[in-house]
Amino acid sequence: MTLRHFIDTQDFTKQELLDLIALTRLIKEADKQGCTPKLLQDASLAMIFEEPSTRTRVSFEVAMTELGGHALYLKPGEIHLGVRESLADTARVLSRMVDVIMARTLKHETILGLAQAATVPVINGLTDYNHPTQVVCDVLTMMEHMPEGKRLEDLRVTFIGDATNVLSSLMLICTRLGMHFTHAAPKRYQPPETWVKMALENCKISGGTLRITEDPIEAVRDADFIYTDLWWWVGQEAEIPERSKAFMPRYQVNMDLFKHAPAHCKFMHCLPASRGVEVTDEVMDSERSIIFDQAENRLHTEKGILVWLVYPRLKRPST
Ligand code: CP
Repeated sequence: MTLRHFIDTQDFTKQELLDLIALTRLIKEADKQGCTPKLLQDASLAMIFEEPSTRTRVSFEVAMTELGGHALYLKPGEIHLGVRESLADTARVLSRMVDVIMARTLKHETILGLAQAATVPVINGLTDYNHPTQVVCDVLTMMEHMPEGKRLEDLRVTFIGDATNVLSSLMLICTRLGMHFTHAAPKRYQPPETWVKMALENCKISGGTLRITEDPIEAVRDADFIYTDLWWWVGQEAEIPERSKAFMPRYQVNMDLFKHAPAHCKFMHCLPASRGVEVTDEVMDSERSIIFDQAENRLHTEKGILVWLVYPRLKRPST
């Protein structure tokens, strides 16, 4: 059986991504009816974290438990990972003991190194480059909050703020799926040319569109969803004054900005959020906000990804 990892949504076709979301919806529906199928009975997941996490850690662990399997939380600094043991050796050893590995790594090269040597699927739980599990969850959430009369290919998604790892994945999955993506940020916080090139290639195939602007008001005028993320992350503390000056107040998602968006437009955030910084409490707690549906969908999405990658590989007694 071909070994597949879940490192980047660019590794999957539009149809594969839609199939994954459809599977996730089926599992979620069964779960809501009170009958989560134990599709990963006795399977094990190793969860490696080089950075803290709430949603990714809890959703993967609960997903494995509810699917009949088991997850090991390997917290930052807990195992040899490129220190005292090569990355490849760690991947080979874990592959002999567990059915799937999920890792949140500081550097994207680390997850690529794990995947290269592992003989079980490796799932990317966020790197400095991207966050693919988050954005599959985001598209599922958008489908569930689809404006009346629209199809997926009609959706307009506007991301306001820093070109983070979430922006990279969201821009790429939306353009791959034929959606219409806008990013608004000051010039120096806009995405690098390599990301833009990939998104434009996606648009050529899918019929999606990409718009990058410095004007947040223009960016939200036709938006079905406004999305933002933190303006700085761990390790960027020295840049806080400069980043605050660049983003505040023009790029803050607040009710004044929402006045320029269509009445049906919803608010999304991958969380954690800095309330009062990139977004106000008023927006976070408003009827526009679907952030907690989005957070819950991480659990359903992790189940979909785990079943998709692992179920076909499990050995079962022949009947
Ligand atoms: N959105 C997200 O990945 O959250 P955590 O950092 O809490 O996992």
